[in-house]
Amino acid sequence: MIETISELAALRERVSQWHREGLRVGFVPTMGNLHEGHFSLVSLARQHADRVVASVFVNPTQFGPNEDFARYPRTPEADAKGLGAAGCDVMWLPSVETMYPYGVEATVHVQVPAVSETLEGAHRPGHFDGVATVVSRLFNQVQPDVAVFGRKDYQQLAVIRYMVRDLAFPVELIGADIVREANGLAMSSRNQYLSPQEREQAAAIHRCLQAMRESVQAGRTREAVEAQARETLVTAGFEPDYAVVRRPDLTEPGAGEGGAQVALIAARLGRTRLIDNLEFMV
Ligand code: PAJ
Repeated sequence: MIETISELAALRERVSQWHREGLRVGFVPTMGNLHEGHFSLVSLARQHADRVVASVFVNPTQFGPNEDFARYPRTPEADAKGLGAAGCDVMWLPSVETMYPYGVEATVHVQVPAVSETLEGAHRPGHFDGVATVVSRLFNQVQPDVAVFGRKDYQQLAVIRYMVRDLAFPVELIGADIVREANGLAMSSRNQYLSPQEREQAAAIHRCLQAMRESVQAGRTREAVEAQARETLVTAGFEPDYAVVRRPDLTEPGAGEGGAQVALIAARLGRTRLIDNLEFMV
């Protein structure tokens, strides 16, 4: 049976009891409206820990003023059921007041340089400050031994790795593979905003990433690959924010001498903004 906890004292009591018993605690942070992608993180956490906590918190500080904070889908009952079935022991469901007791404005902010500023950071100013701030609070609340993040949010994982290293959080990080729909569309809570027809259309993002990989592997220049990808996306009805090939650290351009690469796309389809990526070697 999954237990839902909304008070910090109760969460601390539960986790410290586990630690006294010598158990290893795994953690999966989420914003809820959970799908198979999230549940795969819980399963992976189970493989690396004796107990698993998942948080469900729609974090206001990582949404821009014109983004979808108010309409972001909130489904805590269904989330608790799904988490329980996936093997999660505790759902940490704090209120905004519990997370930010001194107010959102007055709170200490965690800012990760360089990797926060490019790609998503350039298109969503302040987004990663909000993510790093809430994840640092969540780590201090839950005190996990290991935390699992999806590679779907490739840049987010890079930001968290930097933060954990720099602030010496005693947490082991694990990156989980992207879970996709049958047509290749990366699962996302925001897919709910898409009409059935848009869901089919949205699969073009994954196909575009695969074409970028093939073009880089065939020796085309990064500039040519990125220009072609943009054109493909526009033709398919998207408004792309970026379609790029980078090194895994994200601050260096990709292709060039070969080695490890990641292709990343952010594009709008109607009112919905989608992101996806593909890691590969040359
Ligand atoms: P959210 O978008 O709910 O995602 C929670 C976790 O699930 C993230 O680590 C994300 O990468 C992972 N995830 C989402 N879709 C996935 C998929 N299709 N395959 C694999 N993993 C997937 O990311 C956030 O919430 C927030 O920014 C958070 C870290 C919780 C901080 O507020």
